[in-house]
Amino acid sequence: MSSLEEPLGLDKLPSVSTIIDRIRRVSSGACRPRGDYMGMGSFWIEGRSCSSSSSCSDDYDEYPRETYPWGRQTKDGSPRAHMNRTCSFDKNHFVYSNICESRYFSDGHEFNSKCNNKDSLNVTNKFLMGIPKFVKIVEVGPRDGLQNEKNIVPTSIKVELIRRLVSSGLSVVEATSFVSPKWVPQLSDAKDVMEAVRDIEGVRLPVLTPNMKGFEAAVAAGAKEIAVFASASEAFSKANINCSIGESLSRYRAIVRAANERSIPVRGYVSCAIGCPIEGSISPTKVAYVAKELYDMGCFEISIADTIGVGTPGSVAPMLEAVMAAVPAEKLAVHFHDTYGQSLPNILISLQMGISTIDSSVAGLGGCPYAKGATGNVATEDVVYMLNGLGVKTNVDLSKLMMAGDFISKHLGCPSGSKTAIALGRITADVSKI
Ligand code: HMG
Ligand code: MG
Repeated sequence: MSSLEEPLGLDKLPSVSTIIDRIRRVSSGACRPRGDYMGMGSFWIEGRSCSSSSSCSDDYDEYPRETYPWGRQTKDGSPRAHMNRTCSFDKNHFVYSNICESRYFSDGHEFNSKCNNKDSLNVTNKFLMGIPKFVKIVEVGPRDGLQNEKNIVPTSIKVELIRRLVSSGLSVVEATSFVSPKWVPQLSDAKDVMEAVRDIEGVRLPVLTPNMKGFEAAVAAGAKEIAVFASASEAFSKANINCSIGESLSRYRAIVRAANERSIPVRGYVSCAIGCPIEGSISPTKVAYVAKELYDMGCFEISIADTIGVGTPGSVAPMLEAVMAAVPAEKLAVHFHDTYGQSLPNILISLQMGISTIDSSVAGLGGCPYAKGATGNVATEDVVYMLNGLGVKTNVDLSKLMMAGDFISKHLGCPSGSKTAIALGRITADVSKI
Protein backbone atom coordinates (compact mmCIF):
# COMPACT_ATOMS: atom_id res chain seq x y z
CA MET A 1 0.00 0.00 0.00
CA SER A 2 1.44 3.38 -0.93
CA SER A 3 1.43 6.16 1.59
CA LEU A 4 -1.33 7.86 -0.38
CA GLU A 5 -3.57 4.84 0.00
CA GLU A 6 -2.95 4.32 3.67
CA PRO A 7 -6.00 4.96 5.79
CA LEU A 8 -5.44 7.79 8.20
CA GLY A 9 -6.66 7.33 11.73
CA LEU A 10 -7.64 10.30 13.81
CA ASP A 11 -4.61 9.69 15.97
CA LYS A 12 -2.41 10.13 12.92
CA LEU A 13 -3.83 13.45 11.89
CA PRO A 14 -1.31 16.24 11.99
CA SER A 15 -2.34 19.31 13.93
CA VAL A 16 -4.68 21.57 12.06
CA SER A 17 -2.28 24.47 11.94
CA THR A 18 0.31 22.17 10.40
CA ILE A 19 -2.25 21.03 7.85
CA ILE A 20 -3.23 24.53 6.95
CA ASP A 21 0.33 25.64 6.63
CA ARG A 22 1.17 22.72 4.40
CA ILE A 23 -1.94 23.03 2.28
CA ARG A 24 -0.96 26.60 1.64
CA ARG A 25 2.52 25.49 0.70
CA VAL A 26 1.55 22.63 -1.55
CA SER A 27 -1.51 24.05 -3.20
CA SER A 28 -3.41 27.24 -3.05
CA GLY A 29 -0.91 29.31 -1.16
CA ALA A 30 1.18 29.59 -4.23
CA CYS A 31 -1.84 31.08 -5.92
CA ARG A 32 0.13 31.31 -9.08
CA PRO A 33 1.37 27.83 -9.62
CA ARG A 34 4.29 27.43 -11.98
CA GLY A 35 5.69 24.55 -13.90
CA ASP A 36 5.02 21.30 -12.19
CA TYR A 37 4.14 22.95 -8.91
CA MET A 38 0.50 23.41 -9.72
CA GLY A 39 -2.43 24.34 -7.58
CA MET A 40 -5.58 22.31 -7.64
CA GLY A 41 -6.99 23.27 -10.97
CA SER A 42 -7.42 26.33 -13.04
CA PHE A 43 -9.31 26.85 -16.23
CA TRP A 44 -11.68 29.33 -17.81
CA ILE A 45 -15.40 29.66 -17.76
CA GLU A 46 -16.82 32.52 -19.74
CA GLY A 47 -13.49 34.28 -19.60
CA ARG A 48 -13.13 33.86 -15.86
CA SER A 49 -10.20 32.50 -14.05
CA CYS A 50 -11.08 29.41 -12.17
CA SER A 51 -8.92 28.25 -9.40
CA SER A 52 -9.52 25.81 -6.65
CA SER A 53 -8.18 28.24 -4.13
CA SER A 54 -10.85 30.49 -2.80
CA SER A 55 -8.21 32.89 -1.69
CA CYS A 56 -7.24 33.30 -5.33
CA SER A 57 -10.74 33.74 -6.62
CA ASP A 58 -10.40 37.43 -7.31
CA ASP A 59 -7.25 37.08 -9.29
CA TYR A 60 -8.98 37.58 -12.58
CA ASP A 61 -9.80 41.13 -11.60
CA GLU A 62 -6.19 41.74 -10.83
CA TYR A 63 -4.66 40.17 -13.90
CA PRO A 64 -5.90 40.48 -17.46
CA ARG A 65 -6.35 37.09 -19.01
CA GLU A 66 -3.27 37.40 -21.24
CA THR A 67 -0.95 38.02 -18.33
CA TYR A 68 -1.88 35.09 -16.15
CA PRO A 69 1.35 33.40 -15.33
CA TRP A 70 -0.26 30.00 -15.47
CA GLY A 71 -3.12 30.60 -17.89
CA ARG A 72 -3.76 28.80 -21.08
CA GLN A 73 -3.05 31.75 -23.22
CA THR A 74 0.52 32.40 -24.22
CA LYS A 75 1.68 34.55 -27.10
CA ASP A 76 3.88 31.88 -28.57
CA GLY A 77 1.29 29.21 -28.22
CA SER A 78 3.41 27.23 -25.85
CA PRO A 79 1.60 24.39 -24.19
CA ARG A 80 0.46 25.79 -20.84
CA ALA A 81 -3.11 24.66 -20.73
CA HIS A 82 -4.16 21.93 -18.37
CA MET A 83 -7.40 20.36 -19.35
CA ASN A 84 -7.09 17.44 -17.08
CA ARG A 85 -4.61 16.40 -14.48
CA THR A 86 -3.31 13.58 -12.46
CA CYS A 87 -1.57 14.19 -9.21
CA SER A 88 1.36 12.51 -7.62
CA PHE A 89 4.21 13.15 -5.25
CA ASP A 90 7.80 13.49 -6.22
CA LYS A 91 10.43 13.85 -3.55
CA ASN A 92 9.75 17.53 -2.91
CA HIS A 93 6.52 18.54 -4.54
CA PHE A 94 2.90 17.72 -4.88
CA VAL A 95 2.58 17.57 -8.66
CA TYR A 96 -0.30 17.83 -11.05
CA SER A 97 0.60 16.64 -14.51
CA ASN A 98 -1.34 17.06 -17.71
CA ILE A 99 -3.20 14.29 -19.36
CA CYS A 100 -4.22 16.54 -22.16
CA GLU A 101 -2.09 19.45 -23.22
CA SER A 102 -3.32 22.26 -25.39
CA ARG A 103 -2.08 25.40 -27.09
CA TYR A 104 -3.92 28.64 -26.87
CA PHE A 105 -2.96 31.07 -29.62
CA SER A 106 -3.00 34.83 -29.45
CA ASP A 107 -6.17 35.19 -31.53
CA GLY A 108 -7.83 33.99 -28.40
CA HIS A 109 -9.71 31.12 -29.98
CA GLU A 110 -7.63 28.68 -31.84
CA PHE A 111 -6.64 25.59 -30.02
CA ASN A 112 -4.30 22.97 -31.23
CA SER A 113 -3.62 20.07 -29.05
CA LYS A 114 -2.97 16.44 -28.74
CA CYS A 115 -6.58 15.86 -27.80
CA ASN A 116 -8.59 18.07 -30.13
CA ASN A 117 -9.23 20.93 -27.76
CA LYS A 118 -11.60 22.92 -29.92
CA ASP A 119 -14.10 20.17 -29.48
CA SER A 120 -13.09 19.85 -25.84
CA LEU A 121 -13.73 23.51 -25.22
CA ASN A 122 -17.12 23.39 -26.92
CA VAL A 123 -18.11 20.48 -24.78
CA THR A 124 -16.73 22.19 -21.67
CA ASN A 125 -18.70 25.35 -22.43
CA LYS A 126 -21.84 23.36 -23.07
CA PHE A 127 -21.74 21.86 -19.61
CA LEU A 128 -20.27 24.69 -17.56
CA MET A 129 -21.57 27.85 -19.18
CA GLY A 130 -24.78 28.17 -17.15
CA ILE A 131 -23.13 27.65 -13.78
CA PRO A 132 -23.47 30.70 -11.52
CA LYS A 133 -20.34 32.74 -10.85
CA PHE A 134 -21.14 33.00 -7.16
CA VAL A 135 -22.75 30.44 -4.91
CA LYS A 136 -24.10 31.15 -1.45
CA ILE A 137 -23.47 28.28 0.93
CA VAL A 138 -25.88 27.82 3.81
CA GLU A 139 -24.00 25.93 6.49
CA VAL A 140 -26.40 23.68 8.40
CA GLY A 141 -23.93 21.61 10.43
CA PRO A 142 -24.58 23.12 13.87
CA ARG A 143 -28.31 22.45 13.44
CA ASP A 144 -28.91 19.61 10.96
CA GLY A 145 -25.64 17.97 11.92
CA LEU A 146 -25.72 18.16 15.68
CA GLN A 147 -29.45 17.41 16.01
CA ASN A 148 -28.63 13.87 14.99
CA GLU A 149 -25.69 13.16 17.27
CA LYS A 150 -26.25 10.37 19.80
CA ASN A 151 -24.36 12.25 22.45
CA ILE A 152 -25.41 15.73 23.30
CA VAL A 153 -22.72 18.19 22.33
CA PRO A 154 -21.94 20.77 25.03
CA THR A 155 -23.13 24.31 24.31
CA SER A 156 -19.59 25.69 24.41
CA ILE A 157 -18.50 23.30 21.62
CA LYS A 158 -21.50 24.28 19.50
CA VAL A 159 -20.69 27.93 19.97
CA GLU A 160 -17.02 27.42 19.13
CA LEU A 161 -18.04 25.49 16.00
CA ILE A 162 -20.30 28.35 14.90
CA ARG A 163 -17.50 30.86 15.49
CA ARG A 164 -15.04 28.81 13.46
CA LEU A 165 -17.52 28.38 10.63
CA VAL A 166 -18.18 32.11 10.57
CA SER A 167 -14.46 32.85 10.53
CA SER A 168 -14.08 30.64 7.42
CA GLY A 169 -16.14 33.18 5.52
CA LEU A 170 -19.53 31.44 5.52
CA SER A 171 -22.22 34.10 5.45
CA VAL A 172 -25.10 31.93 6.68
CA VAL A 173 -24.74 29.42 9.51
CA GLU A 174 -27.91 27.73 10.75
CA ALA A 175 -27.33 27.87 14.47
CA THR A 176 -29.95 25.69 16.19
CA SER A 177 -33.68 24.86 16.43
CA PHE A 178 -36.41 25.96 18.79
CA VAL A 179 -38.18 22.61 18.77
CA SER A 180 -39.51 20.32 21.46
CA PRO A 181 -36.67 19.20 23.74
CA LYS A 182 -38.62 16.00 24.23
CA TRP A 183 -38.23 15.18 20.52
CA VAL A 184 -34.83 16.71 19.86
CA PRO A 185 -32.92 16.87 23.16
CA GLN A 186 -29.69 17.51 21.25
CA LEU A 187 -30.79 21.10 20.65
CA SER A 188 -32.48 21.79 23.96
CA ASP A 189 -29.85 24.47 24.66
CA ALA A 190 -31.04 26.64 21.75
CA LYS A 191 -31.57 29.65 23.98
CA ASP A 192 -28.05 29.40 25.45
CA VAL A 193 -26.48 28.97 22.02
CA MET A 194 -28.23 32.10 20.74
CA GLU A 195 -27.21 34.02 23.83
CA ALA A 196 -23.57 33.04 23.27
CA VAL A 197 -23.48 34.04 19.60
CA ARG A 198 -25.20 37.40 20.06
CA ASP A 199 -21.94 39.27 19.58
CA ILE A 200 -21.17 37.71 16.19
CA GLU A 201 -21.72 40.34 13.53
CA GLY A 202 -21.91 40.42 9.77
CA VAL A 203 -23.31 36.92 9.43
CA ARG A 204 -26.78 35.43 9.38
CA LEU A 205 -27.57 32.82 12.02
CA PRO A 206 -31.05 31.45 11.24
CA VAL A 207 -32.84 29.00 13.53
CA LEU A 208 -35.60 26.47 12.88
CA THR A 209 -39.05 27.08 14.32
CA PRO A 210 -41.81 24.46 13.90
CA ASN A 211 -44.65 26.42 15.50
CA MET A 212 -45.56 29.72 17.16
CA LYS A 213 -44.12 28.59 20.47
CA GLY A 214 -40.77 27.98 18.82
CA PHE A 215 -40.97 31.26 16.93
CA GLU A 216 -41.62 33.26 20.08
CA ALA A 217 -38.81 31.54 21.93
CA ALA A 218 -36.46 32.20 19.01
CA VAL A 219 -37.32 35.89 18.90
CA ALA A 220 -36.93 36.17 22.66
CA ALA A 221 -33.49 34.59 22.34
CA GLY A 222 -32.46 37.20 19.79
CA ALA A 223 -32.88 35.28 16.50
CA LYS A 224 -32.80 37.63 13.51
CA GLU A 225 -33.77 35.05 10.90
CA ILE A 226 -35.83 31.90 11.09
CA ALA A 227 -36.70 28.87 8.99
CA VAL A 228 -39.91 26.86 8.85
CA PHE A 229 -39.92 23.28 7.63
CA ALA A 230 -42.71 21.60 5.71
CA SER A 231 -42.69 18.33 3.84
CA ALA A 232 -43.90 17.06 0.49
CA SER A 233 -44.84 13.78 2.21
CA GLU A 234 -47.89 13.56 4.48
CA ALA A 235 -46.44 10.68 6.44
CA PHE A 236 -43.15 12.46 7.05
CA SER A 237 -44.95 15.63 8.08
CA LYS A 238 -46.83 13.65 10.73
CA ALA A 239 -43.69 11.91 11.94
CA ASN A 240 -41.56 15.03 12.00
CA ILE A 241 -43.87 17.75 13.29
CA ASN A 242 -46.98 15.83 14.27
CA CYS A 243 -49.35 17.51 11.84
CA SER A 244 -50.49 17.27 8.23
CA ILE A 245 -48.94 19.27 5.40
CA GLY A 246 -52.04 21.50 5.33
CA GLU A 247 -51.87 22.15 9.08
CA SER A 248 -48.16 22.91 8.89
CA LEU A 249 -48.75 25.43 6.10
CA SER A 250 -51.44 27.17 8.19
CA ARG A 251 -49.04 27.35 11.16
CA TYR A 252 -46.32 28.73 8.94
CA ARG A 253 -48.59 31.40 7.46
CA ALA A 254 -49.17 32.69 10.99
CA ILE A 255 -45.44 32.55 11.75
CA VAL A 256 -44.51 34.38 8.53
CA ARG A 257 -47.08 37.09 9.35
CA ALA A 258 -45.64 37.51 12.84
CA ALA A 259 -42.11 37.51 11.46
CA ASN A 260 -43.00 40.15 8.85
CA GLU A 261 -44.25 42.42 11.62
CA ARG A 262 -40.81 42.22 13.18
CA SER A 263 -38.94 42.35 9.84
CA ILE A 264 -37.58 38.88 10.43
CA PRO A 265 -36.83 37.00 7.19
CA VAL A 266 -38.23 33.47 6.95
CA ARG A 267 -36.73 30.64 4.95
CA GLY A 268 -38.87 27.63 4.02
CA TYR A 269 -37.82 24.01 3.68
CA VAL A 270 -39.56 21.28 1.70
CA SER A 271 -38.48 17.88 3.02
CA CYS A 272 -38.75 14.58 1.15
CA ALA A 273 -38.48 16.23 -2.25
CA ILE A 274 -37.49 12.96 -3.90
CA GLY A 275 -38.39 10.19 -1.51
CA CYS A 276 -39.88 9.62 1.91
CA PRO A 277 -38.72 6.98 4.39
CA ILE A 278 -42.36 6.02 4.94
CA GLU A 279 -44.22 6.74 1.68
CA GLY A 280 -41.49 5.97 -0.85
CA SER A 281 -41.16 8.10 -3.95
CA ILE A 282 -42.69 11.53 -4.01
CA SER A 283 -44.19 13.22 -7.04
CA PRO A 284 -42.50 16.44 -8.22
CA THR A 285 -45.91 18.14 -8.35
CA LYS A 286 -46.28 17.71 -4.57
CA VAL A 287 -42.87 19.27 -4.04
CA ALA A 288 -43.73 22.15 -6.36
CA TYR A 289 -47.05 22.67 -4.55
CA VAL A 290 -45.48 22.94 -1.08
CA ALA A 291 -42.63 25.11 -2.40
CA LYS A 292 -45.09 27.51 -3.99
CA GLU A 293 -47.22 27.69 -0.85
CA LEU A 294 -44.16 28.61 1.21
CA TYR A 295 -43.03 31.13 -1.39
CA ASP A 296 -46.47 32.71 -1.71
CA MET A 297 -46.83 33.10 2.05
CA GLY A 298 -43.61 35.15 2.07
CA CYS A 299 -40.62 32.87 2.58
CA PHE A 300 -37.70 34.64 0.94
CA GLU A 301 -35.98 31.41 -0.02
CA ILE A 302 -37.17 27.83 -0.39
CA SER A 303 -34.74 25.02 0.30
CA ILE A 304 -35.63 21.82 -1.51
CA ALA A 305 -34.43 18.90 0.56
CA ASP A 306 -33.65 15.33 -0.36
CA THR A 307 -33.98 14.27 3.26
CA ILE A 308 -32.96 10.66 2.78
CA GLY A 309 -30.50 11.25 -0.04
CA VAL A 310 -32.09 8.91 -2.56
CA GLY A 311 -32.07 11.33 -5.48
CA THR A 312 -29.82 11.14 -8.50
CA PRO A 313 -29.47 13.74 -11.25
CA GLY A 314 -32.05 11.63 -13.09
CA SER A 315 -34.73 12.33 -10.47
CA VAL A 316 -33.47 15.68 -9.19
CA ALA A 317 -33.62 17.41 -12.60
CA PRO A 318 -37.31 16.72 -13.32
CA MET A 319 -38.21 17.53 -9.70
CA LEU A 320 -36.42 20.87 -9.90
CA GLU A 321 -37.97 21.56 -13.28
CA ALA A 322 -41.42 21.18 -11.70
CA VAL A 323 -40.45 23.38 -8.74
CA MET A 324 -38.91 26.03 -10.98
CA ALA A 325 -42.18 26.32 -12.87
CA ALA A 326 -43.70 27.49 -9.56
CA VAL A 327 -40.87 29.35 -7.82
CA PRO A 328 -38.07 31.31 -9.54
CA ALA A 329 -34.69 29.55 -9.52
CA GLU A 330 -33.03 32.49 -7.74
CA LYS A 331 -35.35 31.92 -4.76
CA LEU A 332 -34.44 28.25 -4.47
CA ALA A 333 -31.77 26.39 -2.55
CA VAL A 334 -30.95 22.71 -2.59
CA HIS A 335 -30.30 20.57 0.47
CA PHE A 336 -28.91 17.12 -0.17
CA HIS A 337 -28.24 14.41 2.34
CA ASP A 338 -25.51 12.16 1.07
CA THR A 339 -26.84 8.70 1.95
CA TYR A 340 -26.14 7.30 -1.52
CA GLY A 341 -23.17 9.50 -2.35
CA GLN A 342 -25.22 11.44 -4.90
CA SER A 343 -25.01 14.91 -3.44
CA LEU A 344 -22.23 16.35 -5.58
CA PRO A 345 -23.70 15.22 -8.90
CA ASN A 346 -27.06 16.46 -7.67
CA ILE A 347 -25.55 19.81 -6.76
CA LEU A 348 -23.84 20.04 -10.12
CA ILE A 349 -27.07 19.49 -12.00
CA SER A 350 -28.83 22.02 -9.73
CA LEU A 351 -26.12 24.59 -10.56
CA GLN A 352 -26.51 23.82 -14.25
CA MET A 353 -30.23 24.49 -13.84
CA GLY A 354 -29.46 27.91 -12.38
CA ILE A 355 -29.67 27.35 -8.63
CA SER A 356 -27.04 29.27 -6.71
CA THR A 357 -27.73 28.51 -3.04
CA ILE A 358 -26.45 25.24 -1.62
CA ASP A 359 -27.01 23.85 1.88
CA SER A 360 -24.24 21.73 3.32
CA SER A 361 -22.82 20.58 6.59
CA VAL A 362 -19.23 20.84 7.74
CA ALA A 363 -17.55 17.43 7.93
CA GLY A 364 -20.78 15.96 6.51
CA LEU A 365 -22.35 16.03 9.97
CA GLY A 366 -25.92 15.09 10.38
CA GLY A 367 -29.00 13.20 9.37
CA CYS A 368 -32.55 13.49 10.55
CA PRO A 369 -33.85 11.91 13.75
CA TYR A 370 -37.09 11.18 11.86
CA ALA A 371 -35.43 9.60 8.81
CA LYS A 372 -33.57 6.58 10.13
CA GLY A 373 -30.57 5.53 8.08
CA ALA A 374 -30.30 8.85 6.29
CA THR A 375 -26.78 10.15 6.61
CA GLY A 376 -25.54 13.67 7.02
CA ASN A 377 -25.69 16.46 4.52
CA VAL A 378 -23.14 16.77 1.81
CA ALA A 379 -19.90 17.98 3.41
CA THR A 380 -19.29 21.71 3.03
CA GLU A 381 -15.58 21.08 2.38
CA ASP A 382 -16.47 18.86 -0.60
CA VAL A 383 -18.88 21.46 -1.97
CA VAL A 384 -16.31 24.24 -1.63
CA TYR A 385 -13.63 22.09 -3.25
CA MET A 386 -15.91 21.35 -6.21
CA LEU A 387 -17.00 24.97 -6.56
CA ASN A 388 -13.40 26.14 -6.38
CA GLY A 389 -12.56 23.70 -9.13
CA LEU A 390 -15.39 25.11 -11.21
CA GLY A 391 -14.15 28.65 -10.65
CA VAL A 392 -17.28 29.54 -8.72
CA LYS A 393 -16.77 32.10 -5.99
CA THR A 394 -18.02 31.31 -2.47
CA ASN A 395 -15.91 33.57 -0.25
CA VAL A 396 -15.21 30.54 1.91
CA ASP A 397 -11.64 29.78 2.95
CA LEU A 398 -11.30 26.02 2.56
CA SER A 399 -8.42 25.72 5.00
CA LYS A 400 -10.31 27.53 7.77
CA LEU A 401 -13.38 25.48 6.99
CA MET A 402 -11.32 22.32 7.37
CA MET A 403 -10.15 23.56 10.74
CA ALA A 404 -13.78 23.88 11.82
CA GLY A 405 -14.49 20.37 10.50
CA ASP A 406 -11.46 18.98 12.25
CA PHE A 407 -12.49 20.67 15.48
CA ILE A 408 -15.95 19.10 15.56
CA SER A 409 -14.82 15.71 14.23
CA LYS A 410 -12.22 15.46 16.96
CA HIS A 411 -14.79 16.44 19.55
CA LEU A 412 -17.22 13.79 18.27
CA GLY A 413 -14.39 11.25 18.08
CA CYS A 414 -15.17 10.24 14.52
CA PRO A 415 -13.45 10.80 11.20
CA SER A 416 -14.68 13.62 9.04
CA GLY A 417 -17.43 12.80 6.56
CA SER A 418 -15.67 15.03 4.03
CA LYS A 419 -13.61 13.28 1.39
CA THR A 420 -11.84 16.54 0.67
CA ALA A 421 -10.84 17.00 4.31
CA ILE A 422 -9.58 13.43 4.49
CA ALA A 423 -7.66 13.66 1.22
CA LEU A 424 -6.05 17.00 2.01
CA GLY A 425 -5.26 15.82 5.53
CA ARG A 426 -3.65 12.70 4.07
CA ILE A 427 -1.61 14.69 1.56
CA THR A 428 -0.26 16.99 4.22
CA ALA A 429 0.46 14.02 6.46
CA ASP A 430 2.47 12.50 3.60
CA VAL A 431 4.27 15.74 2.90
CA SER A 432 5.28 15.85 6.54
CA LYS A 433 6.99 12.46 6.11
CA ILE A 434 9.10 13.69 3.19
P1 HMG B 1 -46.30 18.10 19.66
O1 HMG B 1 -46.03 17.06 20.67
O2 HMG B 1 -47.36 17.87 18.64
O3 HMG B 1 -46.54 19.51 20.33
O4 HMG B 1 -44.95 18.42 18.94
P2 HMG B 1 -47.66 20.00 21.28
O5 HMG B 1 -48.07 21.33 20.78
O6 HMG B 1 -48.72 18.97 21.49
O7 HMG B 1 -46.85 20.15 22.66
C1 HMG B 1 -46.31 19.07 23.34
C2 HMG B 1 -45.24 19.58 24.28
O8 HMG B 1 -44.17 20.12 23.52
C3 HMG B 1 -45.73 20.71 25.18
O9 HMG B 1 -45.00 20.60 26.40
C4 HMG B 1 -45.29 21.93 24.49
O10 HMG B 1 -45.11 23.04 25.33
C5 HMG B 1 -43.97 21.49 23.92
P3 HMG B 1 -45.67 19.94 27.72
O11 HMG B 1 -46.90 20.73 28.00
O12 HMG B 1 -45.98 18.52 27.34
O13 HMG B 1 -44.57 20.04 28.72
N1 HMG B 1 -43.60 22.24 22.71
C6 HMG B 1 -42.43 22.86 22.55
N2 HMG B 1 -41.35 22.97 23.35
C7 HMG B 1 -40.31 23.68 22.90
N3 HMG B 1 -40.30 24.29 21.68
C8 HMG B 1 -41.35 24.19 20.87
C9 HMG B 1 -42.49 23.46 21.33
N4 HMG B 1 -43.66 23.18 20.75
C10 HMG B 1 -44.34 22.43 21.62
N5 HMG B 1 -41.32 24.79 19.69
C11 HMG B 1 -43.48 19.75 17.59
C12 HMG B 1 -44.88 19.27 17.79
C13 HMG B 1 -43.43 20.37 16.23
C14 HMG B 1 -43.12 20.74 18.64
C15 HMG B 1 -42.55 18.54 17.71
O14 HMG B 1 -42.99 17.52 16.88
C16 HMG B 1 -41.15 18.90 17.35
O15 HMG B 1 -40.47 19.63 18.06
N6 HMG B 1 -40.64 18.40 16.22
C17 HMG B 1 -39.29 18.77 15.80
C18 HMG B 1 -38.86 17.89 14.75
C19 HMG B 1 -37.49 18.28 14.31
O16 HMG B 1 -36.82 19.13 14.87
N7 HMG B 1 -37.03 17.61 13.24
C20 HMG B 1 -35.74 17.87 12.71
C21 HMG B 1 -35.67 19.17 11.99
S1 HMG B 1 -36.37 19.10 10.37
C22 HMG B 1 -35.10 18.47 9.41
O17 HMG B 1 -34.09 18.08 9.90
C23 HMG B 1 -35.29 18.47 7.93
C24 HMG B 1 -34.46 19.55 7.23
O18 HMG B 1 -33.09 19.42 7.52
C25 HMG B 1 -34.66 19.44 5.71
C26 HMG B 1 -34.48 18.00 5.24
O19 HMG B 1 -33.35 17.51 5.28
O20 HMG B 1 -35.49 17.40 4.89
C27 HMG B 1 -34.90 20.97 7.64
MG1 MG C 1 -31.71 18.10 6.48
